[in-house]
Amino acid sequence: MKKKIVILPGDGIGKEVTTEGKKVLEKIAELFDHQFVFDTASIGHDAIEATGQPLPEETLTKLKNCDAILFGAVGHPKYDNDPTLKVRPEQGLLKMRKELGLYANLRPIKLFDELLEASSIKPEILKGSDILFFRELTGDVYFGDKGRKDEGKTAYDLMIYQKYEVERIAHKAFQAARTRKKKVTSVDKANVLESSRLWREVVNEVSKQYPDVTLEHQFVDAAAMKLIQSPRSFDVVVTGNLFGDILTDEASQIAGSMGMLASASVGDQVGLYEPIHGSAHDITGKGIANPLASILSAALLLDISFGLKEESEAVIRAVEQTLKAGYRTTDIADSKTRKENILNTTQMGTNVIGQIEKVVNKQMVKQ
Ligand code: IPM
Ligand code: MN
Repeated sequence: MKKKIVILPGDGIGKEVTTEGKKVLEKIAELFDHQFVFDTASIGHDAIEATGQPLPEETLTKLKNCDAILFGAVGHPKYDNDPTLKVRPEQGLLKMRKELGLYANLRPIKLFDELLEASSIKPEILKGSDILFFRELTGDVYFGDKGRKDEGKTAYDLMIYQKYEVERIAHKAFQAARTRKKKVTSVDKANVLESSRLWREVVNEVSKQYPDVTLEHQFVDAAAMKLIQSPRSFDVVVTGNLFGDILTDEASQIAGSMGMLASASVGDQVGLYEPIHGSAHDITGKGIANPLASILSAALLLDISFGLKEESEAVIRAVEQTLKAGYRTTDIADSKTRKENILNTTQMGTNVIGQIEKVVNKQMVKQ
């Protein structure tokens, strides 16, 4: 298979982790005889420094003409501490999502058994958790009208949803549920928000086409509590952009660490794959970032954009084997981790690649 992949490292640890994600894709190409052609483009603070724009035209053109995108992160503390700056790294990410029509953000929360102890939640509550979030990605307060009035003393962000936006993400969630435990939890705040009442109405309507899937509704505050109280009670969760952003950071604790969570953003064209973690400037350049979220994002890329299930599975197995062998980055290490098993970013990537070779060779012997 021949495919064009654009690597978008972005800011902070984005560069460090996508280097490892790319290494994994190269290894897969070599072992399975695919041809992956890589290109790199800039986004975020990195791009602002070089061109003045968080998403330069050149980057957008490359993205519109490739088969899949592996993205790192955007953000810089300089902007977080100065809200008056008009051009901001995050605008690049939001514009990219909108321009590429990436309306569905899939965030699988799967706990590797080896990391049961890494979470701050009790193992008996966590064991067996497996949730697939569908976060709507191109609507809501993120893209509604925003501004200031009263000489800057009043600020507003409009929470807005259109019927078709809810319909298309709901369909994706119900379709996915059919391949899983056949349950969808729709999360909203319909007791207060009109946009949530539309959301609930539309999800109910769409659900009629999926009589084999159980639908339940939860208010976002209750859902935030239940995620931690009984994570196993969830299968597929579908929710809006803002609620989904918040709930998936919370849910990352079910998987042990933000450093483990991959995501796929899909729509009608090209797919984009990225960790849910941010640019993490506090650890940038130290070489200690966990590359597993980027590596698992590469696994999602192989599966969803290229339909390469066996290759994707090999990457996931390799991550599992690496964890089984006791290797950890600092964020997922616990008191039982041996000091010599704590790896830096590059070592973790190299270890996973070694495991991919073993996993694939074993499969070949079996055949
Ligand atoms: C995410 C991030 C982004 C978001 C930021 C960087 C704009 O937190 O992808 O979850 O809020 O969507
Ligand atoms: Mn987020």
